[in-house]
Amino acid sequence: MNDLAATASALVAPGKGILAADESVPTMSVRLERAWVAPTEENRRAYREMLVTAPGLSRGISGVILCDETLRQRVAGGRPFPAALAGLGLLTGIKVDAGTRPLAGAPGELVTEGLDGLPPRLREYSDLGAAFAKWRAVFTIGAGAPSGMALRANAEALGRYAAACQEAGLVPIVEPEVLMAGTHSLSQCETVTSLVLLQVVITLLDFGVDFEAIVFKPNMTLPGLDSGQRAPPGQVAEASLATLGSMPAALAGVAFLSGGQLPEQATENLAALQRIPHLWPLTFSFGRALVDPALAAWRGAPGRAVAGQDALLRRVAMNVAALTGRYTPELELEPAHGPA
Ligand code: 13P
Repeated sequence: MNDLAATASALVAPGKGILAADESVPTMSVRLERAWVAPTEENRRAYREMLVTAPGLSRGISGVILCDETLRQRVAGGRPFPAALAGLGLLTGIKVDAGTRPLAGAPGELVTEGLDGLPPRLREYSDLGAAFAKWRAVFTIGAGAPSGMALRANAEALGRYAAACQEAGLVPIVEPEVLMAGTHSLSQCETVTSLVLLQVVITLLDFGVDFEAIVFKPNMTLPGLDSGQRAPPGQVAEASLATLGSMPAALAGVAFLSGGQLPEQATENLAALQRIPHLWPLTFSFGRALVDPALAAWRGAPGRAVAGQDALLRRVAMNVAALTGRYTPELELEPAHGPA
């Protein structure tokens, strides 16, 4: 196994998932303001430091995805975040896309930008200590959407990104997200997600990427937020696995995003996924479902850093329990315990 494939395998190692703490500066600022924390550069730094220094985090987390701002910041004591993460037994990831913009010619649809100048940026991130990268494409389900144009434009960008990452010595996390927003049914989400993943896999094959050195980060298959439906975890798991039919057997692994599900719902669905036979490691790369309770508990007060860390470690422990077949909803009612 080459070095990149070994890094990809480490990201999806048994009983471990990925912490997505890579909200862009504007998104993080909005989330801080909602938690009554001033959206300053220092508060964004302190919040990420609180998360990554949670004691024993590496027992359930393999790597942490950062944004450009955090990657260049330092933890208390002066070490840059990537060095601090390495010291804590965590791999450093970096979000390298530049966010979404309207896709010309496809009203209402989005394309992810950030390809200009990407190869030298990737080399710089690698020099700064990043081991893996992330690029997120988004698709909405609606009348005529996603269009063939949106599928092709976003898949093409993911293909160029993934190939450039591997050339620069970074493992690409390939994140095509079909959003929960909408009135669609579970089966419509399954159809669209299958189509999106197929288009992305075909494009990655065109770009000659090494699937052993790739982690896919798709959405779970869920009914739309405004559908009035709620699918039980067994159904979500069946439908989610069905969408992965186009994934090559060589793929290093799949790490699902949480997509705005409640933390407990995401964990329950992850647990159900483990119960169905599958070809690849299936784990989590959650953002909100891991960090929302931590942000709410921390509220920007240095004296509440331990409360924030406890809240994060509790979600990590629940998701590790899901990965290892020990999760039941009743576990949520038990007093806190650390990861695994
Ligand atoms: P959520 O788990 O909150 O969807 O975030 C994952 C992520 O990395 C979004 O790009």
